[in-house]
Amino acid sequence: MNKDEPILKVNNLHVTFSTYGGTVQAVRGVDFHLNKGETLAIVGESGCGKSVTSNAIMRLIPDPPGKITAGNIYFKGVDLTKLSEKKMRAIRGVDISMIFQDPMTALNPTLTIGTQLTEGLRQHQKVSKEKAIEKAIDIMEVVGIPNPKERLKQYPHQFSGGMRQRIVIAMALICEPELLIADEPTTALDVTIQAQILELFETIQKATGVSIILITHDLGVVAKIADRIAVMYAGKIIETGNNRDIFYQPQHPYTKGLLNSVPRLDLAGEKLEPIEGTPPDLFSPPKGCPFAARCPYVMEVCNKVFPVQTEYTDSHHVNCWLQDERAKSLLATIANE
Ligand SMILES: Nc1ncnc2c1ncn2[C@@H]1O[C@H](COP(=O)(O)OP(=O)(O)OP(=O)(O)O)[C@@H](O)[C@H]1O
Ligand code: SF4
Ligand SMILES: [Mg+2]
Repeated sequence: MNKDEPILKVNNLHVTFSTYGGTVQAVRGVDFHLNKGETLAIVGESGCGKSVTSNAIMRLIPDPPGKITAGNIYFKGVDLTKLSEKKMRAIRGVDISMIFQDPMTALNPTLTIGTQLTEGLRQHQKVSKEKAIEKAIDIMEVVGIPNPKERLKQYPHQFSGGMRQRIVIAMALICEPELLIADEPTTALDVTIQAQILELFETIQKATGVSIILITHDLGVVAKIADRIAVMYAGKIIETGNNRDIFYQPQHPYTKGLLNSVPRLDLAGEKLEPIEGTPPDLFSPPKGCPFAARCPYVMEVCNKVFPVQTEYTDSHHVNCWLQDERAKSLLATIANE
């Protein structure tokens, strides 16, 4: 792999779930990449496909009912969608680690923190018990747990929520992964602890150079630590850009809506406006723009054709007909058909 190549490249990913009510099209053609040492945030409302996308990267979609029906996931040039489960097991937790949406269930209440922290290391890297404990102490220091030597002997219930989350992060880092996926890692925590944990991600990245995908429904959370942001809506990515693009020059009406619905320190006192309406039904998603039913700027073309990707700038891409000069000619073509 060329060293300038992205560490992860997701192309045209489609994931469905078969249910008695029909087929849920949870992820509908997602493309994105992650450069080495970078933090990409994937943001969007509940149900838009963030967790399904990250579970697909880990190849943890339960099959059945789920299935990756199309697309490729290249990790360091290797297509993960083509790997055997055995090969995938060697990558999972070692080269790619994930912090799941509900961190509390990630810890076993009956085992000491030391046992849980060293388990993955001993299993995957066959290191001695002494070496594993040494490494566990080091990683506990990195994630900011005081007195690591003593605390290794304790059980999860002897830790506060914030400290437990630090242990879950330490568990994800102990095998020195190259890619860390954190799915809503701070949702269960109060606001002050949330900020500390997010700062911790920055510290970890500086210390280890790990590439991070941070998933959240809250755009405000990512303002400080994301290098780039991908905004998801109804199983698709509808805008991507670097931190400045998204926060200062948002182009998609949905991204603007998300920004208006999060509190901002610099706009204290301004009224927050939630986005009216609900996302479309993913059993039969609309063929045009999925945001059309909620969009104040909806045009005729929007209901008919999914907006193609427009390069607003080199770093900033958006799928919205407002930004694309082809909208008018396309509508004329449809009218003549
Ligand atoms: N096992 C499953 N069976 C059926 N549908 C599923 C399953 N898992 C996910 N889905 C559907 O896939 C879609 C995307 O779900 P996903 O969990 O990725 O959302 P999310 O963006 O992570 O939301 P949240 O912010 O609430 O975590 C939803 O419509 C969800 O109902
Ligand atoms: S494509 Fe049309 S409906 Fe969709 S966000 Fe843009 S203007 Fe609104
Ligand atoms: Mg989720």
